Amino acid sequence: MTILAPADTAEIARAAEILRAGGLVAFPTETVYGLGADATSAWAVARIYDAKGRPSFNPLIAHVADLEAARREALLPEAALKLAEAFWPGPLTIVAPVTPGGSVCELARAGLPSVALRIPDHPVARELISALGKPVAAPSANRSGHVSPVTAAHVAEDLSGRVDMILDGGRATAGLESTIVSFCDASPVLLRPGAIAREKIEKVLGAKLCAPTRAEVMAPGMTASHYAPNARLRLEAHEVQAGEGALDFDARLTALAAQGAVVLDLSPQGDLVEAAANLFAYLRELDARGVEKVAVAHIPERGLGEAINDRLRRAAAPRV
Ligand code: TXA
Ligand code: MG
Repeated sequence: MTILAPADTAEIARAAEILRAGGLVAFPTETVYGLGADATSAWAVARIYDAKGRPSFNPLIAHVADLEAARREALLPEAALKLAEAFWPGPLTIVAPVTPGGSVCELARAGLPSVALRIPDHPVARELISALGKPVAAPSANRSGHVSPVTAAHVAEDLSGRVDMILDGGRATAGLESTIVSFCDASPVLLRPGAIAREKIEKVLGAKLCAPTRAEVMAPGMTASHYAPNARLRLEAHEVQAGEGALDFDARLTALAAQGAVVLDLSPQGDLVEAAANLFAYLRELDARGVEKVAVAHIPERGLGEAINDRLRRAAAPRV
């Protein structure tokens, strides 16, 4: 059931409670409507991908309330701070390396060592983020491949029954997504043109924005810096061989593993949302426990399974 409510103070408080409980709330920003979840919870973020029907785990923008919150999450170089001062709150997203104490979960970052941050310039969005007291991960609130929604009615058309609540705050004024600038390399890179023109940003920086590299354009989750486990993964395994650990799903392999083998089950009950929420953490845990070879159970290609399999194939691909 999806609650459709006017974005008044009482309903925003209720929306924050839904987010706190791991639910999904669509809310207005000045660019487009966002599909929000607690950015610190892999469980909640997995539900975003599920609701959108995303075939891969694209990294999401974490929406924060103020500059202090942004600096807790990312290492913002001087140039990034200049842009923040000029354009926040507003339709600018800054991508920068994560801080050691950053709270945005790995699934929201699609496993990248960087995080995308934005302080939206919309009273409802800011009240909601402040009420939650944590970053809110939010892609545009449409089904994957559809156009971005600028009214609550657009959101309802795409996501009714798939989100817990839609806050109606009228039409989004910009109607175009934020401009994304990355500060992960020596010079700033324009990753996505958006609601703030390149010229305005270059003027504040006193420098030209670079074009993204091919890898950055193709898939942000695929760049060389993307987290890949040390362990070698053998996908679609039907048994666990001697010396292998196992990354299981739906308890397919667990009983077949040798005594003492490391076995992690992404979801013993076969729940793909749970599996997505556990994926990155479990890949890391296999490395932390020194497992060198891993048998990975078959994961169905439906729902979030498509995105999980996409990530697993990338993680299993031969290294250069
Ligand atoms: O205006 C907007 O930006 C809207 C509203 C809701 O804030 N949000 C939005 O989010 O457009 P989304 O998920 O549709 O776009 C996020 C994009 C990703 O497709 C990716 O290209 C980029 O941000 N991105 C996020 N994190 C990144 C990272 N760590 N490195 C590179 N690119 C990243
Ligand atoms: Mg979008």
